[in-house]
Amino acid sequence: MTINIYIPRDAGALALGAEKVAAAAREEIEKRGLDAKIVRNGSRGMFWLEPMVEVQTAEGRVAYGPVKPGDVAGLFDAGLIEGGAHDLALGRPEKIPFLAKQTRLTFARCGIIDPVSLEDYEAHGGLRGLRNALEKTPLGIVEEVTESGLRGRGGAGFPTGIKWKTVHDTDDPQKYIVCNADEGDSGTFSDRMIMEGDPFVLIEGMVIAGIATGATRGYVYLRSEYPNVHRILNEAIDAARAAGMLGKSVLGSEYAFDMEVRVGAGAYVCGEETALLDSLEGKRGQVRAKPPLPAHEGLFGKPTVINNVISLASVPIILDKGGAITAISAWAVRAAPFRSRSPAM
Ligand SMILES: Cc1cc2nc3c(=O)[nH]c(=O)nc-3n(C[C@H](O)[C@H](O)[C@H](O)COP(=O)(O)O)c2cc1C
Repeated sequence: MTINIYIPRDAGALALGAEKVAAAAREEIEKRGLDAKIVRNGSRGMFWLEPMVEVQTAEGRVAYGPVKPGDVAGLFDAGLIEGGAHDLALGRPEKIPFLAKQTRLTFARCGIIDPVSLEDYEAHGGLRGLRNALEKTPLGIVEEVTESGLRGRGGAGFPTGIKWKTVHDTDDPQKYIVCNADEGDSGTFSDRMIMEGDPFVLIEGMVIAGIATGATRGYVYLRSEYPNVHRILNEAIDAARAAGMLGKSVLGSEYAFDMEVRVGAGAYVCGEETALLDSLEGKRGQVRAKPPLPAHEGLFGKPTVINNVISLASVPIILDKGGAITAISAWAVRAAPFRSRSPAM
C-alpha cells in the first residue's frame, strides 16, 4: 500500500522552507524506490513546528518537525515511512498538548486533508451540510443558522441568521453572496489558514448561503497579500465546478450557484463591507452611508449577504450537526472578539 507523507503547502510552512523539504523528500522516495507519495496538506496551526511532516502508519499519523531540507535524508535513514524514531519525532500529532486540548469544528480538517481534493473533503465529512440544506426550504436553512446563534466573525458579531433573513425576504431576481477575505487586522491569519487548509468548507458555506437567500452568484474578496490562497481557492473552485458542486444545478438540484475570487489592491479600509463593495464594483474603496443596508442594496445595487470567511465556513458544520447542537457549544454562543468597528449588516 502506498504510504502518504504529508508536507504542508500553506504560506506559513512555505515561508519556513516546506517546498525544499518536499523536493528533498521526493528525491529520497525516488532514490530508495519507496512506495510512498507526498500529499501537500494545510497547516494544523502549530507554526513553531513547521514545516511539520507527517506520515501515515498503521497506528495513525506520526509527525516530525520542524524539518529542514538537510534533515530529510536522515529522517528516511531512521525509517520515516514506518514512523521511525528520530530527534525530530513528535509522536501522534493529535497528542501534542496544543492540539490535545482542542475540539475542532470549523478547523477540523485543516492539516489533515489535501485541501484541493474534493474526494478527501467528502471522506472527512464534507458536503454533509450542503446535502442536509438541500432537504430543507431556503427559510428552513435560515432558521437553522439563526438557531445556532452564529454571530459574524469579521469583528462586529452581527447575528448571521438575521442578515440572511433580510436578504431572503427581498424579492429581487439577482442577489449576491460576498465573502470578506480581506483579513486586514495585523497578525490575524485564521481566515488564511482555513482557505489554505480547507477551501471547500468556505465554498460549501457560500453555496448554502446562496440557496438560503436566493443568490446565484458569489464573490470572494481576497487581500492581494495572499497569492497562495488565490491559487488554492481557484484550484478548489475549479474542482467544485467540475464535480457539480457549483454551476447551473448544485449537486443535481434545482438551485444554481457559481462563484469567483476577486483580488483587492491592498487597502485596509476595503475590509469594511461597503468600501469592499465599491472596490468589487471597480471603484475606489470608500465607506458608503447606511441606509441602505447591503442586505437591501449591496453589490451593484442588489441585495447582498456579506460575511467573513469563518462565518461562512461555520455554516456547513451547523447544517451538518444541527443549529440546536451547535448553539450549545461555546464557539457559537460566545460573541465574536470585539473590535472597535461600527456595527454592520
Ligand atoms: C475599517 C474596517 C475594516 C474591516 N476589515 C475587515 C476584514 O478585514 N475582514 C472582515 O471579515 N471584516 C472586516 N470588517 C468588518 C466588516 O465591515 C463586516 O462587519 C463583516 O464583513 C461582516 O461579516 P460577518 O457578519 O460575517 O462578520 C472591517 C470593518 C471595518 C470598519
